[in-house]
Amino acid sequence: STALDVQYIQKHLVAHPDFPKKGIVFLDIFPLLRDPVAFEALITHFLFHLTSSTIPKLNGGKIDVVVGLDARGFLFGPILAMRLGAAFVPVRKAGKLPGECVSVTYEKEYGSDAFEIQKDAIKPGQNVLIVDDLIATGGSARAAGELVSKLGGKTVEYLFIIELLFLKAVATLDAPVYSIVKTDD
Ligand code: ADE
Repeated sequence: STALDVQYIQKHLVAHPDFPKKGIVFLDIFPLLRDPVAFEALITHFLFHLTSSTIPKLNGGKIDVVVGLDARGFLFGPILAMRLGAAFVPVRKAGKLPGECVSVTYEKEYGSDAFEIQKDAIKPGQNVLIVDDLIATGGSARAAGELVSKLGGKTVEYLFIIELLFLKAVATLDAPVYSIVKTDD
C-alpha cells in the first residue's frame, strides 16, 4: 500500500548470484518469513491490495479460489485464502496429488517441469487468484492459468512478491499481474 511497506519487504529479500546455476540471480524470500513482523507486513500489504484496489476482472464479485504454486506459493496462499474467505487449491509438480487430476507441461527460467491440479478443485465460473513468490519467465504462472481454464475457472489476477521485469512475462498472461517488488537485475 505505501512505499514504506514495499521498502521494508524489499530489504528482507536476499539475492544469491549463480544459484542454482551460473548466470541466475536467485532471490530468496525465506529471510522475510524468518521475521514475523516482515511476514505480517507482506500479508497485510497483499490483503490491502486484494480488498481495496480494483481487480477489473472481478467485476465487483469475490475471489472464490486462491491457487498457490508448488512450493513457495504454499507459504502464503493459504493465509490469503483464509483471510479472503476463499478456498485454497494447490497446483503441484506432477505425481504428487491423489485422485483425478489435469496436467500441463511448462518451461522455467532454468529447466522444464509438469504441473497438476485436482479436477474437482475448481467449479466452472469461479473467480481464481493465482499466487507464487516470484514471476520470472511466467512459464509456471501460464501453466497454472491453463489448468484453471481447463477446469472452467476464471483467473482474475496473478499475484507475486517479486517480478523480474527483464523477462517480460506480463504480456504473455491472460490476466493482470500484481507484484510488490519489481527488479530489473
Ligand atoms: N524462480 C525462477 N527464477 C527465480 C529467481 N531468479 N529467484 C528465485 N526464484 C526463482
